[in-house]
Amino acid sequence: MWSSIILSLEGTDLERKTPLIPQEDLRRQAEISDYIKGWWQSQGRTPVAWVDTYGCQQNEADSEQIRGMLERCGYGFTDGPDEADLIVINTCAIRDHAVQRVFGNVGALVHTKRRHPGQKIFVCGCMMGNPEISGRMKNSYPHVDGIFSPHHLWQLPEHLYRVLIRHRKAFAVADSDGAIAEGLPVVRTNKIKAWVSIMYGCNNFCSYCIVPYVRGRERSRLPEDILDECRGLIAAGYREITLLGQNVNSYGKDLGLGVDFADLLAKIAELDGDFVLRFMTSHPRDASHKLFDVMASHEKIAKQFHLPFQSGSDRVLKAMNRHYNRAQYLELIEYGRKRMPELVFTSDVIVGFPGETEAEFEETVSLIEQVRYDALFTFIYSPRPGTPAAKLPDPTPKEEKNRRFDRLLAVQNAISEERHRAYVGKTLRVLVDGRDGELLTARTDGGRLVRLEGPDGLIGRFVNVTITGATTWSLVGRKEE
Ligand code: 5AD
Ligand code: SF4
Repeated sequence: MWSSIILSLEGTDLERKTPLIPQEDLRRQAEISDYIKGWWQSQGRTPVAWVDTYGCQQNEADSEQIRGMLERCGYGFTDGPDEADLIVINTCAIRDHAVQRVFGNVGALVHTKRRHPGQKIFVCGCMMGNPEISGRMKNSYPHVDGIFSPHHLWQLPEHLYRVLIRHRKAFAVADSDGAIAEGLPVVRTNKIKAWVSIMYGCNNFCSYCIVPYVRGRERSRLPEDILDECRGLIAAGYREITLLGQNVNSYGKDLGLGVDFADLLAKIAELDGDFVLRFMTSHPRDASHKLFDVMASHEKIAKQFHLPFQSGSDRVLKAMNRHYNRAQYLELIEYGRKRMPELVFTSDVIVGFPGETEAEFEETVSLIEQVRYDALFTFIYSPRPGTPAAKLPDPTPKEEKNRRFDRLLAVQNAISEERHRAYVGKTLRVLVDGRDGELLTARTDGGRLVRLEGPDGLIGRFVNVTITGATTWSLVGRKEE
């Protein structure tokens, strides 16, 4: 699966080993897609597929590739299970709640399939990267026709061929460090905002997290491939590009080209065109001052930083295997704000990590009060089988964890509301990205949601709005002439 390629970067020819899927293997998938399309045409039908996505933006981006491959196989799309000739459930494994929801929803598809006997059901995504979970799916749900892990996503046409034409089951979950499939077809659901994966996998092994086990080792796409994709998106009229990776700050470490994430970001921000550039997610351990400097000196890079801190207690951070402490984290925030006073910080936090004491929880509260995030994603710790934290003693009762969670929410909601109120009276440039009922929706450079009155013709445009009102979750604005 490994192939050697020649890369030309700024005049230097460099050879490197890269985990690229060979083009001939991808061509074979394209041939299979064409065959499936012909097969459907010979039946005189245009089949429709429903792709249901759970979890994070990385999964949304994967689903766009799934739709791209399915379109090549002749499929149109529908937004529910009933009409679908093919259902693809793209799953998330990050918390037990997500896993149980998928099991429940896939279980219920047995009835849908009974009403639609030719229907085929595939389950993929992060849950299928875990052997116990994929095994349970295979054994307990005989109405599921195909199962594949994130490493086997690019072979979807082959899995479909096996199920549809050969009337067999497809089960592709073999473990691997992962590779990169360049040039897969994509059907993007949004015409204004695009996701661009710049790297896959994670090497951090935070003690609570299942991602490194289901998505493999960190591997970066080549800068030129990423730049080409961004150029194409800008030419096609996209106004917002979000660079995706489980830990974008370690971009390039595996390439050995001397190009780090800050360099890549600068190169993309220097492309011609009217667009805004975002990225997620960052690990504080690898977030550099250089990155903040690049953000400060490029107008097209949104002044928004999602920097998960997870806990305010040094003991808990150590037990989480995070490799930074509270003081180091706060120093990053301080530096970012010094360089860009308007910078919007958001974050993730886990409450109830095994052994977290009341005093340690209070350190998390005090960190939130000190940083004053615009928004915070708060999670109750969920043990993931196979991760080191799942083996730790966890004496704190569920009720106590719920109480801590509620308290965090209350603290953060008050801060969000105050911060949002401070926007009132300001005039900001926003990107109008859609409509929600009567009002248009837009995002500020810092990623805050703004609702405003206006015609659909504004969708996809940057406009100046004066903020007239604020709630905990969003802002209200009026377009300036
Ligand atoms: N339990 C609870 N929350 C988790 N996260 C990751 N793993 C777990 C887990 N086992 C949270 C982290 C991460 C976000 C995407 O999900 O806060 O940043
Ligand atoms: Fe995304 Fe992680 Fe969930 Fe996978 S497990 S969908 S990478 S959040």
